[in-house]
Formats: sequence, structure tokens, C-alpha cells
Amino acid sequence: MTTVQPFVPPPYPYDRLDDLKAAGGAHPGGLVDLSIGTPCDPPPRFVVDALAQSGTERGYPASVGSPAYRGAAADWMGRRLGVAVDPADVAACVGTKELVAGVPQWLRLRRPDLDTVLYPAISYPTYAMGATLAGCRAVPYRSFADIDDDDARRALCVWVNVPGNPTGELVDLGAAAAWGRSHGVPVLSDECYVEFTWDGPPRTILEHGPDGVVAVHSLSKRSNLAGVRAGFYAGDGELVHYLSEVRKHAGFMVPGPVQAAAVAAWSDDQHVQDQRLRYRNRLEAMRVALASIGVDAPMPAGAFYLWAPAPGGDAWGLARRLAEQGGALVSPGEFYGSEATDHVRVAVVQPDDRIALVAQRLAAAG
Ligand SMILES: Cc1ncc(COP(=O)(O)O)c(C=O)c1O
Repeated sequence: MTTVQPFVPPPYPYDRLDDLKAAGGAHPGGLVDLSIGTPCDPPPRFVVDALAQSGTERGYPASVGSPAYRGAAADWMGRRLGVAVDPADVAACVGTKELVAGVPQWLRLRRPDLDTVLYPAISYPTYAMGATLAGCRAVPYRSFADIDDDDARRALCVWVNVPGNPTGELVDLGAAAAWGRSHGVPVLSDECYVEFTWDGPPRTILEHGPDGVVAVHSLSKRSNLAGVRAGFYAGDGELVHYLSEVRKHAGFMVPGPVQAAAVAAWSDDQHVQDQRLRYRNRLEAMRVALASIGVDAPMPAGAFYLWAPAPGGDAWGLARRLAEQGGALVSPGEFYGSEATDHVRVAVVQPDDRIALVAQRLAAAG
């Protein structure tokens, strides 16, 4: 008889930073939190107004998203990413983290004979956690060539993330789509940082056609709306339909007022342009601050993180130094995979004057 071990939730990564938080918080002027990638800038006023004025509070919202929601998402993809998407192949999610965490169990309902989730070796931790929560195997890969044939045969899906968290990398989505199709594995492409692509145009896996692929998008980062929880997934009609039907039975719904606000947000690009400038300036300012203590963090190809190599490969050491000397809280690389223990991730999600304060502290210490 096999013994099934009970699942014990591990400590949430950011809860492991309490000591560093205390060290950073001892600075006059307080802690500058550059750990979690949570936006600090305001969303547009008209989006917040739409939340209050939709009149949608009384009835249940459509789980798949209202026609306006799906239409606004499809229009945005056409306008910004250059792909024609049928709104019928778009479905709402309550922010994307719940979808990322939940999708392995739903795909397993569709293919009970499979049990594996493939995910990038250095990545957002929820890809692996979703597999674990579904009782599946979470198998990291470094490149598509690196994926074992047996793992590919057992795979429910493979995740890609462009631009990638934490590295900012832009992996080849055409190659990802081709690999998935040749192995019969659905490719899920997390594109929540797409508007913050710095090297070249923003890109989506749907440029390579919808068959067997699903793009996942969020308003959290694009429009500084992490607090309202709005996202969508789009692509292969059969996959989107299957997932949205299962999710409807389970009661996943983006609240009506949020759907109305999301329509306003997806329909406007100016606020995103303003946000891009803010992040670019902060990335540059933070690079200079790190350089003042001898840390050379390259400008990322996308997203709003610096992926900084730690001197001597000691990420916790660098995180401690940044907390003690800079009053800044950053994330040690191991949060993003066992191969990432020699970097720290610095999220430039604090106002300019707070980033300048870190720079001053480090310059004074260094
Ligand atoms: C790569 C990636 N995917 C998904 C998410 C989840 O974002 P949300 O649930 O707010 O849409 C995050 C949040 O940090 C992320 O970094």
C-alpha cells in the first residue's frame, strides 16, 4: 500500500524576509520594500470611477466575463499586440495567480492520464505550486531541448513567461508554440508584463496562431490594478472553453464592478505609456544605486525587476547588505528556483523619491 503524505503548506516566500525587514526598517525614513512586485502608482481616475458607477452590484457576473469585458480584452490584443482574437475565445480570470495555481487540476480533469506540469527552472513560484496543489509533478526545464521525453509525454501543460519574472528574459514564443504542437502539450504563456517589454515590440504567443496555446494576461501590472483582480486567458478555443466551463461550475467570477472598470482600463493606452516611463527611470536609477556598491545588474529585456548577481554568489548576503546599508528589502533568488541562489530580484515598485533614498544610503555606506 502506498502512503500518501499530507500536504503541508510551506512558508510563503515573502514571510521569510521578516529579519531583513526589521534591519531595513531601522533606518530613519524607514524600509523601502522592493521585494514583492506590487504596483505603487495610482490607476487612472476614470477606471476607479467606473468601479463605483457600473450598477452591476446586484446580480451575479458572468464567470466567463461580460461581452464588453471579453471584447475590450480582444480589442487590446489587436491594438497593442497585433493579433486578431475572437472574443468567444477569451475568458475572464480573477487576476491571473488563481488561474496559474488552479490550471493543473482543471487540465487533469480533461486528461486524467497525465500528471506533470513543466515550468521554467527560474520563474514565478506559482507555476510549480499549482502542480503541487493538484497532486501533480512539477518539473522544471532550462530549455525546450532539455525536456525529457518521458516528462513531455506525461505533461498536462508547459508554462512560458515573457517577459519573464524574475529575469526579464524574452524567450522565443514561436519555438515554444512549435515545441508544444510537436509534442501535443498545451503551451500556457504568461504575458502579464507584456506592456513592459523594453527590447523590441511587445509579443504574444498568439502571433504564432491559437492552436494548442493560451495567452494569460492581467491588469495588475499594466494598469496598477493588482487590488481589483482582473485578468483573462485567450487562444485555443477548445482549451479556453473547457477551462471556462469548469471554472463556471466552481464559481470563479470577476465581480461586475471590476469587469466594468477593466473595460475602461483595457481601452486606454496612455496611462500605460506613462507607467512605462516611470519603470524605465526607476530601473536606471536602481542600476546606478547598485553599481555604487559594486553590483552590476543589467537592464532587463522586459518587466520591472533587476536581476542582480550577488558578489560571491551569496544572494542572502547581498539581500542583508541592501537591508542594512540601503534600508531596502529585496528577494533572494532562491524564491524563484533552486538554480537561482546567486542573484537577488529588485522590484522597482516604489516611488522615485524612495528609490533615490536607497541610492543615497548606499552611496553613503559604500
Ligand atoms: C509572472 C507572474 N504571473 C502572474 C502573476 C500574478 O499576477 P495577478 O494575479 O495579479 O494577475 C505575477 C505576479 O507577480 C507574476 O509575476
